[in-house]
Amino acid sequence: MTDESINITSVEEVLTANDAALTEEEIYEKSKFSLETENLCVSFHGREAISDINSKFRKHSITAIIGPSGCGKSTFLRALNFMHDLTPGALVSGSIKIHGKDISEYDMTDVRRRVGMVFQKPNPFPTMSIYENVSAGLTLYKRHKRKELDEIVERALVHAGLWEETKDRLKVSAMALSGGQQQRLCIARTLAINPEIILFDEPTSALDPISTSRIEETLHTLKKDYTIIIVTHNMQQASRLSDYTSFFFLGKLIEHGKTRTIFTSPKNTLTEEYIIGKFG
Ligand SMILES: Nc1ncnc2c1ncn2[C@@H]1O[C@H](COP(=O)(O)OP(=O)(O)OP(=O)(O)O)[C@@H](O)[C@H]1O
Ligand SMILES: [Mg+2]
Repeated sequence: MTDESINITSVEEVLTANDAALTEEEIYEKSKFSLETENLCVSFHGREAISDINSKFRKHSITAIIGPSGCGKSTFLRALNFMHDLTPGALVSGSIKIHGKDISEYDMTDVRRRVGMVFQKPNPFPTMSIYENVSAGLTLYKRHKRKELDEIVERALVHAGLWEETKDRLKVSAMALSGGQQQRLCIARTLAINPEIILFDEPTSALDPISTSRIEETLHTLKKDYTIIIVTHNMQQASRLSDYTSFFFLGKLIEHGKTRTIFTSPKNTLTEEYIIGKFG
């Protein structure tokens, strides 16, 4: 059988059958999807916020999650970052897989390191310097030599597109940065712990158009190394930035597909009406 004759399903079947024999790196290389959910449901005090979400997120791609306010976008993202464990009254069911393996098969600290999240409002640690903010997550996981730490901080700031603006003032308080710079600092802080998947919940909604376009450039560069999922209310942003789009409505995933298809010929009339601005 030639490589060309192996279709997607058969590669996935091979992967499942031989899972035990593969190293972590081999599983990563073989699986097309970094992250999958099966029948993922979240309820708060018995009231369902999202139900039966079945989704797959490809490696090296950006997926935009769109939908009207209150439809469960943040709830979904938080579930992917295991944040509901700490929410009183929250109940999560269904499964989440990373590289085809259920998260229960991983060590939880390892799973948390693999998934990073950046929030709507930049949230740098206010009493820490720029350098300390970027290295903050790292020191939680292991001890690093100073030189090693310097290199990781520099690399994270370069990747987040903030190095040139901060290299001469790394010891200055993070609060001295502008809102857009603070958001790139939060991206650098996330990158420093070397995640594989990065979740962004409306990362540019509080920023001016120039800062927004800097963040978009950053995300575009990052996708070659990471799997990116971004919640946005900005339809232009979703269409110019993402490879795939998921449309949520009333706690359900209504439609998922290539962004070009979703924006030009969606299958569901709800998707179309939302995109053209009939509601939301
Ligand atoms: N911690 C919580 N406790 C109780 N209910 C919650 C909690 N978080 C979210 N919800 C409910 O879950 C539903 C989905 O909320 P969610 O924040 O996910 O919406 P969203 O799509 O992100 O909206 P927006 O676009 O306004 O950010 C809402 O009805 C909300 O009230
Ligand atoms: Mg939200």
